[in-house]
Amino acid sequence: MNLDEILKDAEREFAATGSLPILDQVKARYLGKSGAITAQMKSLGALPVEERKAAGARINQVKDQVEALLRERRDAIQAAELERQLAAESLDVTLPGRGDAVASLHPVTRTLARIEALFSSIGFEVADGPEIETDFYNFTALNIPENHPARAMHDTFYLEGGNLLRTHTSPVQVRYMQNVMKLAGQSQEFHGPTGGGALPPIRIIAPGRVYRCDSDVTHTPMFHQVEGLWVDESISFADLKGILADFMARFFERDNLPVRFRPSFFPFTEPSAEMDIGCVICEGAGCRVCSHTGWLEVLGCGMVHPNVFGHVGIDAERYQGFAFGLGVERLAMLRYGVDDLRLFFENDVRFLKQFA
Ligand code: FA5
Ligand code: MG
Repeated sequence: MNLDEILKDAEREFAATGSLPILDQVKARYLGKSGAITAQMKSLGALPVEERKAAGARINQVKDQVEALLRERRDAIQAAELERQLAAESLDVTLPGRGDAVASLHPVTRTLARIEALFSSIGFEVADGPEIETDFYNFTALNIPENHPARAMHDTFYLEGGNLLRTHTSPVQVRYMQNVMKLAGQSQEFHGPTGGGALPPIRIIAPGRVYRCDSDVTHTPMFHQVEGLWVDESISFADLKGILADFMARFFERDNLPVRFRPSFFPFTEPSAEMDIGCVICEGAGCRVCSHTGWLEVLGCGMVHPNVFGHVGIDAERYQGFAFGLGVERLAMLRYGVDDLRLFFENDVRFLKQFA
């Protein structure tokens, strides 16, 4: 085969090749170890000495031309591939955006925010405490000594080492009062409640998760409570009733929401009460949600027990206070008309979407 034919063949074959791997195969047919041009080189030895130089130069010239064709073709293929890729990935900026599925707050989060906003508006501060508690803060300091039957009522999750998952937000009462006492003792203005200086008023809510070994339509192992505590020199049960009745009316947006307080028992309050509101579903006529009583139980409350003040060093003769603890899911169920508490924690988008 003469060199002109080789060059022509190479040109034709390169031009017919559309991808880099195949181009490499074609290249080998000319420039590879047993390629056509290499074969020409090898045949030089058979030529008479005087012809070798000219023939060699001619072969090299063709070799350069083939290499140049190869480079050209490689560049063209690469450019075409880039072009294809760009076309495939191109953005149509006129298309409507795909990110229009708006996320929303969880109904429990919304309820917590609503509760916080309402209490903040009347001067309550938000406090918090740990979810892993000691026996002392969850029970003992709240006037629930060891072997007290109230401990069994709480269905507590105990941790190795003796700590526990708090069963209610009430331990935050104790932690907060302890901190206030510590600060009051150190400040120039306060010399502690018994040292003549006045204790600053304590007016907090403490929202958060609590845990109980419990599960059915109205109970889940993790749920939320909001604790409330107001301690000052002249706080009475009348303040408790006023604050809570007003809160419920505003929470449920009912001007004349009926409320009632039934005597109850909590070791850390005395007297203790359970607060009911007129059923917001049937307006008191009686329905499934209120078990046909017209009333709904919404929280536990009472006047802070002197023994609790004793545990934190507050003078129970001088100071009084009220406390309450409400179940957030319970309020959310009533506000949104949800009949199974567990729905809040199953993360079913069909349920959650309704609150978007
Ligand atoms: C308490 O936990 C007291 N710490 C409340 C309290 C605070 C009383 C301050 C006095 C002073 P109780 O165990 O009743 O009380 O729980 C309070 C509310 O939490 C209940 O009314 C209910 O709404 C809610 N609750 C209780 N257990 C569960 C549960 N497993 N799942 C969902 N909500 C629950
Ligand atoms: Mg109760």
